[in-house]
Amino acid sequence: MPCPSPRDMQSDIHLIGSGQTRFGELWDKGIRDLMEEATDAAINSSPCTALDIDMVIVSNMLAEVTNGQAHLAAIASSLLPHHPPAIRVESACGSGAFALHTACAMLESGRARNVLVIGVEKMTDVSVDTVASALMGAADSEQERPAGLTFPGIFGLITQRYMHEYGLTRDELSLVSAVHHRNACENPFAQFRLPVTPDAVTKSAMVSNPLRLLDCSPISDGAAACILSTEHAGAARLVASQIASDSLSIVDRPTITSFSATKDAAERALAEAEITLKDVRILETHDCFSTAALINLEDLGFCDPGEAIGIYHNLWRGGSPLDGARGRLPALGVNLSGGLKGCGHPVAATGIKQLIDVSKQLQKTGDRYGLAHNFGGAAATCGIHILESIS
Ligand code: COA
Repeated sequence: MPCPSPRDMQSDIHLIGSGQTRFGELWDKGIRDLMEEATDAAINSSPCTALDIDMVIVSNMLAEVTNGQAHLAAIASSLLPHHPPAIRVESACGSGAFALHTACAMLESGRARNVLVIGVEKMTDVSVDTVASALMGAADSEQERPAGLTFPGIFGLITQRYMHEYGLTRDELSLVSAVHHRNACENPFAQFRLPVTPDAVTKSAMVSNPLRLLDCSPISDGAAACILSTEHAGAARLVASQIASDSLSIVDRPTITSFSATKDAAERALAEAEITLKDVRILETHDCFSTAALINLEDLGFCDPGEAIGIYHNLWRGGSPLDGARGRLPALGVNLSGGLKGCGHPVAATGIKQLIDVSKQLQKTGDRYGLAHNFGGAAATCGIHILESIS
């Protein structure tokens, strides 16, 4: 069902400031330190002072389990001298996009004019088993958890099905991570700045057949913050903010090799921005596991089902990624930041960081439109934002 577009009722929303911490294992920093570092960087890069922020939205999934800390909105508010109203938003790994969407609603309604959106996750202070169990809160606790699944397990099943349907080979899948790791080498905020070969991916430790260690986004600490404003102009305008949902459990879906929430959010976002896919030249997409990157390119419409690996063949060779893809779309930058694989995935910070990366890349390339695609769980929720560069 199409969502009403508020574009004709609102002032333009601009991205006027942004900042992030490095993503990685940041044992010397607490969750408040991470939020503060990203917030300071966002405010310092904007035309605002701290006192201009009239609302804070904080995105976080796991702090109760990983840090013994709830009530992050109160912490977020206390980072600013005047303690503005603050709200926490949670939508699993898609929390960042949902926080951005909430900020847009506040701006569109006129309740706020400058909203600080902070995404934060501090995952490495507890064991991997504890994090894996907490992350399973994003799946179905009645159908999937009792079956012994973890997220690598769920995406392992999705990968097996995808290989069965489309004939993808294990060696081909390794191209995805190799491309993202290569891109991350250029990103000073990335957790892994090391190139890996496709062969190294194929030979890395088995995690969940057929997914290997180097197919998985890692467990990470980090924060990202941005300021959205209807009062000030910035280098980029947010021309679409859309969210969509699907069944929580993959068991309840007609297919597990395509995610309807991505399709729904993408269709609405392109309509809201009044552009077509051909206009999108920069893409940050949610590659929590290698197969997700392939499914996302197909669901977003950049190629037909089963064809996305062709894009990665082209990217790995350094060619134009969309050669041979549907409609011969023009050149597209895919996860130039390194994606979740190379940058790390502090889950609720990822969606904010994607928007920041899209903005940076638009400035660098001079392209006009970029799209950030962020999902929660096995894409039971999805948020898409489109930025238009105005510099
Ligand atoms: N990619 C690349 N390297 C990784 C990595 C990853 N995903 N995870 C760990 N490493 C590296 C570590 O840095 C470490 O290197 P070092 O020995 O040089 O320090 C080494 O591999 C072993 O790390 P370790 O922490 O023992 O790995 P692990 O086996 O405990 O965890 C995974 C690996 C894949 C199980 C874990 O990263 C994971 O669960 N990832 C998925 C997270 C997830 O589900 N997110 C939500 C998505 S929907």
